[in-house]
Amino acid sequence: MALQRSVCRLVHSYGLREIHLLCPVSATHFCPSRLMSKSSIKMSDKKLFTPGPLGTSSTVKSAMLRDLGSRDVEFIQLIKTIRSKLVQIAGVSTSTFTAVPMQGSGTFAIESVFQTATPKSGAKVLVFENGAYGKRLGKVCEVMGVDVDVVSFPENDYVDINKVESIVQGDNSYTLVAMVHCETSSGVINPVEDVGKIVKQYLPESDFFVDAMSSFGAIPLDLQSAKVDYLVSSVNKCLEGVPGFSYAIARLSKLRTCKGNSRSISLDLYDQYDNLEKTNQFRFTPPTHTMLAFSQAIREFETEGGVEGRSARYKENCSILKAGMKEMGFREFLNPYHQGYIITSYRFPEDKNFNFNDFYMKLNERDQVIYPGKVLNADCFRIGSIGYLFPDDMRHLLKCIREVCNEMNMALPIKG
Ligand SMILES: Cc1ncc(COP(=O)(O)O)c(C=O)c1O
Repeated sequence: MALQRSVCRLVHSYGLREIHLLCPVSATHFCPSRLMSKSSIKMSDKKLFTPGPLGTSSTVKSAMLRDLGSRDVEFIQLIKTIRSKLVQIAGVSTSTFTAVPMQGSGTFAIESVFQTATPKSGAKVLVFENGAYGKRLGKVCEVMGVDVDVVSFPENDYVDINKVESIVQGDNSYTLVAMVHCETSSGVINPVEDVGKIVKQYLPESDFFVDAMSSFGAIPLDLQSAKVDYLVSSVNKCLEGVPGFSYAIARLSKLRTCKGNSRSISLDLYDQYDNLEKTNQFRFTPPTHTMLAFSQAIREFETEGGVEGRSARYKENCSILKAGMKEMGFREFLNPYHQGYIITSYRFPEDKNFNFNDFYMKLNERDQVIYPGKVLNADCFRIGSIGYLFPDDMRHLLKCIREVCNEMNMALPIKG
């Protein structure tokens, strides 16, 4: 027992990485290092140039190395602070909006809004989509059995506001209109503010929902002028927390009318909100460690200069990437007038020696993780600029890409 206690103290003060070196050979009953395989001893971070999970700072990760009870006064205060900080980051007031954390990845928060904002009868949803994540919004409605119309736009372009206007002008039966801000499958940033204004002009009673999963905290969005009622994002995106929960920023005048709508207990956003308001506690086991990490992530976000500071770093990351890839002859999937800086899709080079799996694996061996494409009409791969990445990381990635192309006997600059 004494040994166990002292190991725990060591874990608390040094972290697992160091404890491996400190753990005595005679610790036969309990030794964290015995639970680690030989290959995990290296424990270096991979650089994640992906849409998620994303890299986080070591201080964010270290903030998790504590256990807290769900009723602990410190934890209760933590929940309150995180909720009010999220509303503040959204640039709105707590008298008009509330932030409701939801256990699970981003899709859980999306489903919780759809479950809660669509009454069991009479709901009709309109989705504007130009990629895989927009399509998912439609699928959520279909699976729930909610009447939904999905209007599609080309994957390599914006949701077109003229078409939006003609649709909402012609049918006033929609109760909720939904779209994605940054369509992470391609990198397109959609004109949410323009769409929101049009939607509310023709459908003033409807709810306007925005999936801002990969943009919240890094791409400015004025919720009031965009007339957003529900926005969702996840802690392990641009706010750089560790994965584990997501959240909805909800307009109070809307959310408060949603009692009893949800067909799911765990995804009932109203009930989650109501319970948090009444008790400051989650209804079910809270993601305590993730929340500790997120609180540190918010501190780091503020130190960096909030949305402005974070977007400046991501923009710089992305412009270094784009310049270096262009020099090697890689072609972007989107036309140059797209100014997104979250993720960039590249067409597969036509070089006969290019093979995505080999390319991916060789970069992975160098601890550089890129991502397969998610657009339907072209073979692409994606490189993200978000998460705990800095200009030097982008330069190092470019150097690795050059090495890998050489190893694969691809001629640089790439032709075609
Ligand atoms: C725009 C968008 N929506 C939804 C999701 C799904 O989020 P998750 O995988 O966390 O459920 C993602 C994930 O990257 C996303 O980028």
